[in-house]
Amino acid sequence: MTVPVITLDGPSASGKGSVASLVASRLGFHYLDSGSLYRLVALLALRRGVALDDAAALASLALTLPVRFTGGRIVAEGDDVSDALRAEEVGNGASKVGALPEVRAALLERQRAFAVEPGLVTDGRDMGSVVFPDAALKVFLTADAAVRADRRYKQLIGKGESANLAQITQDIIERDARDAARAVAPLRQEPDAMLLDTSAMTIDEAVDQVAQWYASRR
Ligand code: C5P
Repeated sequence: MTVPVITLDGPSASGKGSVASLVASRLGFHYLDSGSLYRLVALLALRRGVALDDAAALASLALTLPVRFTGGRIVAEGDDVSDALRAEEVGNGASKVGALPEVRAALLERQRAFAVEPGLVTDGRDMGSVVFPDAALKVFLTADAAVRADRRYKQLIGKGESANLAQITQDIIERDARDAARAVAPLRQEPDAMLLDTSAMTIDEAVDQVAQWYASRR
């Protein structure tokens, strides 16, 4: 029997991570935030002084990523990097390293290894198109750029960090454009993916919708 996989792809700050992890908890499935792997490559590259366009060095970093996912935290080289991974600089770096085919190829099998019983919910940009093309349910989750920027702004302020709404909006628009324009695994809605626009939805409503779609397919 194949392991059921639910993929949620979409642009940055669309809420797909929150929705995906809640759907996973509700179904008792595993959860993979694939963006964290790209973020980790960027973070380690920044820390080690590896240029974000050095494809060979980044691919070898990606192949040997020293990472453990434990109790909702992400540990690399004995260091809890969960918070460091969320920095805007690291997100922008992830979008740069994610444009390199060598890095994407290096992360492919590692991502597929998360599909174990009883099932997996995963979010990213190419989970439904490249990593899990046979997923039981594919969702393309999006929201207006202004709504996404506002959510990210409130998240940062809520964490006591300083944030600039205009800068965040510009970063989101640039990141979306880079993710959608890249030659390999560009961000786009697959023909067999369900569209979920969360601009006017709460997280709970989005989770209910995904769970309902999944239930109707079983
Ligand atoms: O989703 P998140 O904001 O954490 O992703 C950070 C960056 O990693 C994205 O902007 C994207 O360029 C890259 N990424 C990707 N493919 C994925 C997940 C993330 O290219 N499956």
